[in-house]
Amino acid sequence: MLTEKTRRATLYLGPDAAGLADAARLLRAGGLVAFPTETVYGLGADATSNAAVAEVYAAKRRPAVNPLIAHLENRAAAATQGIFTREAAALAEAFWPGPLTLVLPLAPGATVCALARAGLASVALRVPAHRVAQALLAATRLPLAAPSANLSGHVSPVNAAHVREDLDGLIDAVIDAGSAQVGVESTIVACLGAAPQLLRPGGISRAAIEEVLGRPLAAHSEQGAPRAPGMLASHYAPRARLRLEAASVEEGEAGLDFAGRFEKAARVLDLSPRGDLMEAAANLFAYLRALDREGHATIAVAPIPATGLGEAINDRLRRAAGGRAA
Ligand code: TXA
Ligand code: MG
Repeated sequence: MLTEKTRRATLYLGPDAAGLADAARLLRAGGLVAFPTETVYGLGADATSNAAVAEVYAAKRRPAVNPLIAHLENRAAAATQGIFTREAAALAEAFWPGPLTLVLPLAPGATVCALARAGLASVALRVPAHRVAQALLAATRLPLAAPSANLSGHVSPVNAAHVREDLDGLIDAVIDAGSAQVGVESTIVACLGAAPQLLRPGGISRAAIEEVLGRPLAAHSEQGAPRAPGMLASHYAPRARLRLEAASVEEGEAGLDFAGRFEKAARVLDLSPRGDLMEAAANLFAYLRALDREGHATIAVAPIPATGLGEAINDRLRRAAGGRAA
């Protein structure tokens, strides 16, 4: 429910010096500003402030047991928040700035607040590569807590219009800088002393990470509390039912195709006619939103290879299909 307290006029800012200055001022005052990253748009707030972070959970209607990623300007800033094992340092060296999040033991003197960590003794850190995200972090000189800028349970936004659909009137501003390039969220790896664990497949492939580590990532145990609680099965649910691994589009269905398998006549969007998984990842959430908005009862989804970014794409599709996730 919206209350007078949570309702606010949302400013739409350009990614220029004036827009960034306004955004930084709002963030430093404890406000909520959505901004582009190379993966998806994030809903930024001062990660050192329990009050600012509380507003993030309220605006997204996100359960406060689900911790947020703190975004930092560079590795030096990240090292003040988390304790890097040798392997964590190697991953940061290889992939930052970029679509990798490291879950690390909290460093002594860390300033990321307890609410952003959902009270955990670990912290999720990411140094984003997007020019606007970098400029905003430099301007605020704060770690920014930034979950994807959607209502909890909705598909992540890859442009400012998607953010508006979910959060207009609930946040202070959105910096509009076009479409996010990668299109799926960051890969999350926990380096908590034992073997590094893949908590969420994402914008950097498992193979690329394992190549740097020189060994396979440990399997993510599904026992007990989820290690990345946002990975609950229903997290990415659209309204439509998804029929995965479909060979064709049936009467009355819409189609989400890959590499031109479906007949052209039906209501079909092809994630990548030329079969490129990076292009498919970049189109995934926008196409899901577009087909879902049309009100189809069922969306047939073509098989997507499980290699490279295909692991993250298949993961999000299984979650969107509602709980049949592994
Ligand atoms: O690409 C991304 O990662 C985007 C952009 C905006 O950076 N952000 C994003 O945030 O996807 P969010 O909040 O939608 O997902 C963060 C995930 C959640 O699944 C959360 O449970 C997990 O990170 N997480 C955060 N802190 C954690 C921790 N200490 N231990 C385990 N999982 C954690
Ligand atoms: Mg999210």
